[in-house]
Amino acid sequence: MARDILITGGAGFIGSSLALEIQRREPGAEILIVDDFRSGSFPNLEGFRGDLLTADVGLLDWHRLLGNRSPEVVFHLASITDTTVTDTATQMRSNVEGWRHLLAFLAGKSLRLVFASSAAVYGITATPQNRVGDPERPANAYGFSKLQMEHLAQRFAGENPKIALAGLRYFNVYGPREAHKRKSASMIHQLACQIRSGKRPRLFVDGSQKRDFVYVADAVDATLAAALATKGNGVFNVGSGRGRSFNEVVSCLNAALGTQAEPDYFPCPYRFFQPHTEAELSATQAALGYQPRFSLEKGIDAYRESGWLGCDCEQ
Ligand SMILES: NC(=O)c1ccc[n+]([C@@H]2O[C@H](COP(=O)([O-])OP(=O)(O)OC[C@H]3O[C@@H](n4cnc5c(N)ncnc54)[C@H](O)[C@@H]3O)[C@@H](O)[C@H]2O)c1
Repeated sequence: MARDILITGGAGFIGSSLALEIQRREPGAEILIVDDFRSGSFPNLEGFRGDLLTADVGLLDWHRLLGNRSPEVVFHLASITDTTVTDTATQMRSNVEGWRHLLAFLAGKSLRLVFASSAAVYGITATPQNRVGDPERPANAYGFSKLQMEHLAQRFAGENPKIALAGLRYFNVYGPREAHKRKSASMIHQLACQIRSGKRPRLFVDGSQKRDFVYVADAVDATLAAALATKGNGVFNVGSGRGRSFNEVVSCLNAALGTQAEPDYFPCPYRFFQPHTEAELSATQAALGYQPRFSLEKGIDAYRESGWLGCDCEQ
């Protein structure tokens, strides 16, 4: 593991989990987090001993901060993560122009660069399985901005051969340190909150729609593997490899929480709602050696054991 590491968005859900895991695996690593706390949360960083700079990655004077110094690994996770922000200019300015600004500073250096894309780039697809290389049809401004980030990264990688660059299309990540995301947190967190507060878990009719839910420890493993892999250039899916229905999520939550909550079904208000998503993982496994460890059942159990499942909810 490299010793000089930059994480943007490190106060967020995945970023803080990543920072704490790196610190655990490599206690001597120098970790600098850049986060402007627009959606991050300081309790996520309990136990973090590295440096924390509060700034917008798209406005930061990187040269002034780091000069000619180059981190060995950069994880770029900072992003608007509320997918209901529909204003395209806002999503693009923040996600794509922020990325462009960081890339301009990194140009010509020698390092490994891992950035967060999203399964949202696939949009509404004809097939349940999502494979890198399938046509992308993002259905919202957030997904569109992530796809533009990938295109920018691809051009940048061609111009900067000393930079090894991997983009990760995370699917539905869930686990400790996501409560601050509230309505943008995983459905697993939101349904757990509803059950724990004595309400019936609310699902779109008829609860059979499937998502690829991936436990955050697996997402972190994949992210670290992307930083270490020797042939890990390109874009990769990060999921569990299995679509599971919302009804199954409620069953697993009932089992984990010792409840018997019955879903409260209501009509889906969206004209397009994906019936099924599932990460096709063969390329991720071949290039990064990534093998998800957590089934939905195991992930929800680990989440409950962490003490974070359904905590801090105001819904
Ligand atoms: N959680 C998921 O299921 C999921 C799925 C697909 C993709 N992703 C991507 O993974 C990354 C991390 O997501 P997350 O779930 O941890 O979300 P999060 O909202 O918890 O974390 C994002 C962090 O980035 C920070 N941030 C945002 N814009 C910034 C900026 N311009 N400058 C500095 N800091 C900024 C926020 O304050 C926050 O701490 C994001 O890029 C997101 O798009 C997440």
